[in-house]
Amino acid sequence: MSSHLLEIKNLSVSFRRNGLFFKKKPFWALKNINLTLEKEETLALLGESGSGKTTLGRVIVRLIKPTEGQVLFKGRDIFSQWKREYTKEVSMIFQNPREAINPRFTVWEAVSEPLIVHKVNKNLLKERVEKYLLWAGIDKNLFHRRVEFLSGGQRQRVAIARSLVLEPTLVVADEPTSALDMSLQYEILKLFKKIKTELKISQLFITHDIRTAAAVSDRVAVMLGGRIMEVGPTKEVIKNPLHPYTRYLLENMPVSSPFLRDKNKKTDQGELFQSVRDQGCPFRFVCPQRELKCTLFPPKVVIEQNNLRREVYCWHYLD
Ligand SMILES: Nc1ncnc2c1ncn2[C@@H]1O[C@H](COP(=O)(O)OP(=O)(O)OP(=O)(O)O)[C@@H](O)[C@H]1O
Ligand SMILES: [Mg+2]
Repeated sequence: MSSHLLEIKNLSVSFRRNGLFFKKKPFWALKNINLTLEKEETLALLGESGSGKTTLGRVIVRLIKPTEGQVLFKGRDIFSQWKREYTKEVSMIFQNPREAINPRFTVWEAVSEPLIVHKVNKNLLKERVEKYLLWAGIDKNLFHRRVEFLSGGQRQRVAIARSLVLEPTLVVADEPTSALDMSLQYEILKLFKKIKTELKISQLFITHDIRTAAAVSDRVAVMLGGRIMEVGPTKEVIKNPLHPYTRYLLENMPVSSPFLRDKNKKTDQGELFQSVRDQGCPFRFVCPQRELKCTLFPPKVVIEQNNLRREVYCWHYLD
């Protein structure tokens, strides 16, 4: 029996894509992912666009079936051993605002929907919707407003309330602040910290921003090209990155304004990483430490440092 809240084992996801001459080539959006999440823990998934973060989040809420491997929740396979109850235990806040909530819904409708789906009785429904809307910072006078008339920040608070009303054990939050202005980002991040400290709910927090990861998470998993490169306690990973890619990320930390960031960021390398889905390490074309062996992705190396467990996937630690 696994003692982890969530355990991802040898998980791979391939999408079929149209190749040249109508050949359908499988495209590995995730390749051999191994990851665990504990009760009350916040794990950040950190990686650039296309690294596979959303795909992994969607597998965990059962929107995508893995091509290979397994996901266990409380020791049971989420696709074969969990039924409808699973949607009570694990909720998701979506990256794409349109996917998140029907804009025609009122705030109240949006947040009560998960409770209605689970046939929660009227009194409890009323209590829960009100409790979590207020908790998320939505004023009573907004309860009957349509979601489409809310500001971005208010909308995100409604999405948060909606993800909490069933009092889940785990929330998957997919870049919940990246569409917001800096000042708002800070406010919403405070709310995610409260999900951890007050509500003690576990979180898988998806972000492309190392600062955001640092602000909210206990541990971080660094992803690139559908692979995990490194996992460890967030503070340690930032202080002493083990993987050359993590070091590269820290050295090329985008400037804090998202506007400036987008202008600075566009390099060819993002494209390169996206297209590299072979047997090798996706960072090897840019890596200062590359060796011949890097054409094969390395096995996991576990390093214990002062009782802290770190994992890194780099041949450098296997020599
Ligand atoms: N349904 C799909 N069909 C084909 N390819 C897909 C599908 N969904 C995702 N992909 C591809 O899989 C890769 C990983 O996508 P994913 O959305 O998981 O990345 P991400 O890390 O969330 O990126 P972003 O930061 O842009 O949100 C991308 O190259 C994407 O184009
Ligand atoms: Mg994404």
